[in-house]
Amino acid sequence: MTDSSNKKLQGKVAIITGGASGIGEATAHLFAQHGARMVVIADIQDQLGHQVAISIGIDKCQYVHCDVSDEDQVKNTVESTVQKHGQLDIMFSNAGTLSGSDQTILELDLSGFNKVIETNARGMALCVKHAARVMVERRVKGSIICTGSVAASQGGQLLTDYCMAKHAVLGLVRSASLQLGQHGIRVNCVSPSMVATPMSCDALGMDAEQVEKISEPSSSLKGVVLKVRDVANAVLFLASDDSGFVTGLDLKTDGGHLGSRYKPQ
Ligand SMILES: NC(=O)c1ccc[n+]([C@@H]2O[C@H](COP(=O)([O-])OP(=O)(O)OC[C@H]3O[C@@H](n4cnc5c(N)ncnc54)[C@H](O)[C@@H]3O)[C@@H](O)[C@H]2O)c1
Repeated sequence: MTDSSNKKLQGKVAIITGGASGIGEATAHLFAQHGARMVVIADIQDQLGHQVAISIGIDKCQYVHCDVSDEDQVKNTVESTVQKHGQLDIMFSNAGTLSGSDQTILELDLSGFNKVIETNARGMALCVKHAARVMVERRVKGSIICTGSVAASQGGQLLTDYCMAKHAVLGLVRSASLQLGQHGIRVNCVSPSMVATPMSCDALGMDAEQVEKISEPSSSLKGVVLKVRDVANAVLFLASDDSGFVTGLDLKTDGGHLGSRYKPQ
């Protein structure tokens, strides 16, 4: 348990997109444990999102339906958070998806491509835009964190669209961090290697144990496997005052990733 003396987000209000599942869900729990006054989960999986909010406690966590690829929904989520909870200190822009096919360049399917770009690149930009807008208006020295990937820094044998979208996330973080620094707003990125979540398990048709087994050889750090909690801990660092002078960083949670053996997630 986290006692009150080492709570890092006491009184903060946070939005977590994609918070109904996987990395976002683990981060929602961790933020609440660290004293966040309100964690708003913004997702499209309504039933799961409500369940996560209830498991955290509805006095500390709220679910809001928000498709991040729709600007009105992102704007409404940010504005209703400020109206209801008086503040927005942290935006964790984490929602992401895969197209469901291999997406090699020779067999690129454009409808899948559009879905991935709309959510993973355009949706991230909308979340950063609207969070930053209210932070600037209200003079909040907030923290914005995006979920990148090791696929943001290297090519892949598969998932060209995903790889392109994650490269775009890095460009977004680098540009927004430069532009928002004058307002005291920090913008950073967390980039995991493969971690067992519903997304990676579904994509590979494997259970969590199998995903962890196949991902193990791709890191130089041996005897440990990446868990969603490790990614959430990196997000907590970037969200809290512990990283008060850190902006524009791509924080890799990849165990010293060995790219050549890896197909990106
Ligand atoms: N799992 C991995 O191996 C891995 C590795 C690197 C990066 N990532 C990234 O981590 C992030 C979280 O993924 P995860 O692995 O936890 O997967 P996940 O499927 O468990 O969670 C993703 C969440 O995003 C939500 N979502 C999808 N499209 C959305 C939309 N348009 N609007 C709002 N919410 C939407 C889903 O409903 C889901 O709850 C993604 O950005 C993903 O690309 C995952």
